[in-house]
Amino acid sequence: MSEMQLKNPMLRWIEYRLPIFSFIDHSVGSQYPAPKNLSYWWNFGSLAGIALVMQIATGIVLAMHYTPHADMAFDSVERIMREVNYGWLLRYFHANGASLFFLVVYIHIFRGLYYGSYKYPRELLWWLGLVIFVLMMATAFMGYVLPWGQMSYWAATVITNLFSAIPWIGVGITEWLWGGFTVGNPTLARFYSLHYLLPFVIVGVVFLHLWALHQHKSNNPLGIDIKGPQDTIPFHPYYTYKDLVGLGVFLLVMFGFVFYHPNYMGHPDNYIPANPLQTPAHIVPEWYFLPFYAILRAIPSKLGGVIAMAASILVLFLIPWLDTSRVRSTKFRPVYRWFFVFLVIDVILLGIVGAKPPEGIWILIGRLATLYYFLHFIIFMPFLGWFERPLPVPDSIHQPVLGAAAGAAAAGENKR
Ligand code: HEM
Repeated sequence: MSEMQLKNPMLRWIEYRLPIFSFIDHSVGSQYPAPKNLSYWWNFGSLAGIALVMQIATGIVLAMHYTPHADMAFDSVERIMREVNYGWLLRYFHANGASLFFLVVYIHIFRGLYYGSYKYPRELLWWLGLVIFVLMMATAFMGYVLPWGQMSYWAATVITNLFSAIPWIGVGITEWLWGGFTVGNPTLARFYSLHYLLPFVIVGVVFLHLWALHQHKSNNPLGIDIKGPQDTIPFHPYYTYKDLVGLGVFLLVMFGFVFYHPNYMGHPDNYIPANPLQTPAHIVPEWYFLPFYAILRAIPSKLGGVIAMAASILVLFLIPWLDTSRVRSTKFRPVYRWFFVFLVIDVILLGIVGAKPPEGIWILIGRLATLYYFLHFIIFMPFLGWFERPLPVPDSIHQPVLGAAAGAAAAGENKR
């Protein structure tokens, strides 16, 4: 890595001893070549990173005022809301931030699915993303338990009880997780500890994720490889500014929720203190878990439901090999494009089913939507890859933008 030419003598002094500025410049600066055709769908990775930092920053200050004890947790949260300076703002930012973080990451995942960003040579990048996703789910679940409201308590009970479905050792594992014979103070204390720890583990995995990304650079809407400098532009200033536009929109949405509808994505029952003697009428998780919750309940046996739910995540790890298509981007796949739309509808439908009580027509819809979810990945993906005839793919990234002749001229100019 070449040393950076800096005007400021102090920065030059640091750079000579620790070349941190050239490292940044090569990672997200003017020395990092990015495909010139990235669309706004490529904003969501950096947005996820910003959302993660915001969660950590607000979480650390909340932790200064929160009391992780079953007798005091609920009241300490009420105190944050009413008495701590701007405590309400911190808490609403953290709670709505978690929801928007998931929204951003879901868009990020579906973007990857549409453009085939998981395909060779980005399989490990995809896997690291999925590891982040699983860690995010664990973190969000444990965070939701901390206010110790009715939904916190009963969600913790339902989810930890899933482990008891494992034959022979299940009950032992569940009690070990609880630290007792029911969800109680020891459970709250360990969830608090892990909820504080896991985001930093996520930061570590995000660095690996970005390392893998930089190895082969970003995919792009055409799904074809970078062939030379004529296909790229420097990350800074082009994409740093484009990312700032995305950040502006993200913050507007965030402010809309925090200042106008702060409890829209929450459940009113969580403003009732946890009561182990009274089960709420309907136990529902946060919206971002609803599709998985629907899959869990689609299978009539408890163990079967747990296996289906685990499989719905594990199957995502196999996608790089289940997708047998020659081309990456769905843009050039006229048939698969429809199946992608059906998958999005199916996941939304699963989310709707997850929010409904498991009765009547919802049971049938839940089962069919679950079946379709697995069919998509296990049957349609490989078969369409084999049998679909893709549309002609351009030879290079710059060709559709500049035309063949102008592209060749640009290539010559870049060589000089
Ligand atoms: C904390 C969560 C995450 C952060 C901070 C993060 C960050 C990023 C960033 C900054 C990029 C480059 C910009 C972009 O392509 O949008 C990226 C790319 C990518 N991420 Fe993530 N990511 C996260 C979660 C995930 C998850 C859950 C998955 C998949 C399951 C995933 C899969 C990918 C893939 C496949 C790419 C390459 C996309 C391409 O080049 O087309 N990421 N990520």
